[in-house]
Order: sequence, then C-alpha cells, then structure tokens
Amino acid sequence: MTTAPGPLDRWYEAAGVRGGVRRLFHAETEAGRVFFPEALVPHLDHPEVRALPPHAVRELTVRHLYQFLHATTHLETRVVNGAAEPVANGRAGMDFPTGLRMDAFKVYCDEGYHALYSLDLADQIARVTGIPVPDVDYGGFVTALQAAGRALLPDDPLLAGQLQAVVFETLITAVLNEVPQDPRVVSTVRDLMRDHARDEGRHHRFFSAFFLELWARLDRHRRIAAGRALPAMIRAALDWDLGPVHTSLRLAGLDEERSRAVLADAYGEGAVTARIRTVSRATVRLAAQAGAFDLPGVREAFAAHGLSEPEGGDD
Ligand SMILES: [Fe+2]
Ligand SMILES: [Fe+2]
Repeated sequence: MTTAPGPLDRWYEAAGVRGGVRRLFHAETEAGRVFFPEALVPHLDHPEVRALPPHAVRELTVRHLYQFLHATTHLETRVVNGAAEPVANGRAGMDFPTGLRMDAFKVYCDEGYHALYSLDLADQIARVTGIPVPDVDYGGFVTALQAAGRALLPDDPLLAGQLQAVVFETLITAVLNEVPQDPRVVSTVRDLMRDHARDEGRHHRFFSAFFLELWARLDRHRRIAAGRALPAMIRAALDWDLGPVHTSLRLAGLDEERSRAVLADAYGEGAVTARIRTVSRATVRLAAQAGAFDLPGVREAFAAHGLSEPEGGDD
C-alpha cells in the first residue's frame, strides 16, 4: 500500500470537495420528472399506494429521496468518519503508515462534504416544492450497524467500527449505481448521485485495500470474530429502515392498518435477500480474498444471512 499507486493519490485534483460545484435545484426545468427512480421505491407498486391521488404519490417519492439523502448524512459522518478518525489520528491501536493516515483524512473530508450536499439538496427541494422533510430518525441504518457490532464484537468496539465502515464503503458504490442515469429523474438528483459515485469509487478501492491491511494486523482470534460479524453488518447496512417509510405512508393518507399492510407486502423477506445478495457481491468477495471463509464458523454465519462464498473467479 505504501508503494503501489493508491486510489486517493490524485485526491487534491479529483475529489468533489476540492473542485465540485454546488448542485442547485430549479423547479421550472424539472417539471414532469420524478424525484427518485420509481422502481427503487418498493411501496409505490402496492395497490393501496397506486389508489392514492397523484399528488400523494409524488410526495411519497420526494420523501423517499429525503430519506435516502438524510440516511446518507448519518452513515457518512457517524459510521465512516467515526472509523476514519482513529485511523487518521493514529489511535486505532494499530500501526498504519502516514500515507494511509492521510488517506483516512481525505475520506473524512469527502464524507463531511457528501453529508453537507445531501442535507443541502433535501433542504432546497423542501423549500421549492413545499413538501416538508418529516422530523423522524434517519439514523436507523447507523443504529442497526452499531447493534450488530455490539452483539458480535462486544469486547472489540474499535474493530467493530472499522468493519462497519469497510462494509458500508464497499456497498455504497453499488447502492449509488442502482440509481440509474434515467432522464426521467430530476437532473439535480442525478448530478448529485454522479458526483457522489465518483468519490465513492475511489473510497471503494481505498477501503478494499484498507481491509486487507487491517486483516493483516489481526490475530486469528480477532479474524474469526470479524469474519463472523461481517454478514450481520452487511444485513444491517442493507435492510430497509422502515421507520421513515411508515411515517411517509401515514402522511400520504393511509391509516395505520393499511400502512402496516403495505410495509409487510412491499418489504417482505424474499425481495430483501435477493437485493442484498446482488449489492453485497464486492464486499463478500473481499472477505473471501482475505481468507475469511476458511475460518471456523464464518461460512455458517454468512449462510445464516442468506449469503455464501463467491464461486471461483476473483475481482
Ligand atoms: Fe460518501
Ligand atoms: Fe465514502
């Protein structure tokens, strides 16, 4: 990692926070466009939701974008920066070279900026459209990741934090790439997703390399614990956070009983596991590359979450 070219070597020239533009939402050029790809909002396809008036469906889509943007701010600053900081400051209990510590600060700067522009875009859209951002907890993914860490690595919070960041950072590129460059989506939203995906492509490569550096510094006991914790963290990062969805359905006019029925139908187990398998492919491959599947109990832990060792082929 000290000699080979690193993914953040050209950070001063390439990072969004160094040279990007502020994305501004203009309602007049966006007429007729959707705020989030409808295929990625599972509840929109439910008969109860389709029966709602068009303005209520539009508001649901806007609130889905708000949830995406606000959840991003929590994950970036609390999970990723929470893990980048001890590495950057040399207090992770492991000896990392100065170049890697500076890379961790580059990530830290990037994530602060991603959080800022995510909050900024949600705020701009709320002001222009008059659709308020519901005052609910958007940190559900963070809570779930932290709970997985506490349950599986109760005596090793530092390692838990590092793994949460590695898992999230090797998943997010696939999540951002799920939002297609579909011209029916509001252009400001697409531009922002593209800006973010560019930085996250570099982060993905950084955290993949970092994971192997981290792994090399773990003894067998910590490797086994880490390997067994990874699938629960993948799950926690990708399971839907239904709290804000529930609020959004109620705000759209569905009563409690109908809202709960929509959640149960649209977010059932089958669809969730299929998506998790696809989106987590790179993360699972990374665990395999480190040799995690050769350790006792790791294969079983992945299987318990519907995940398995990738067959053959490398990245
Ligand atoms: Fe980010
Ligand atoms: Fe990132």
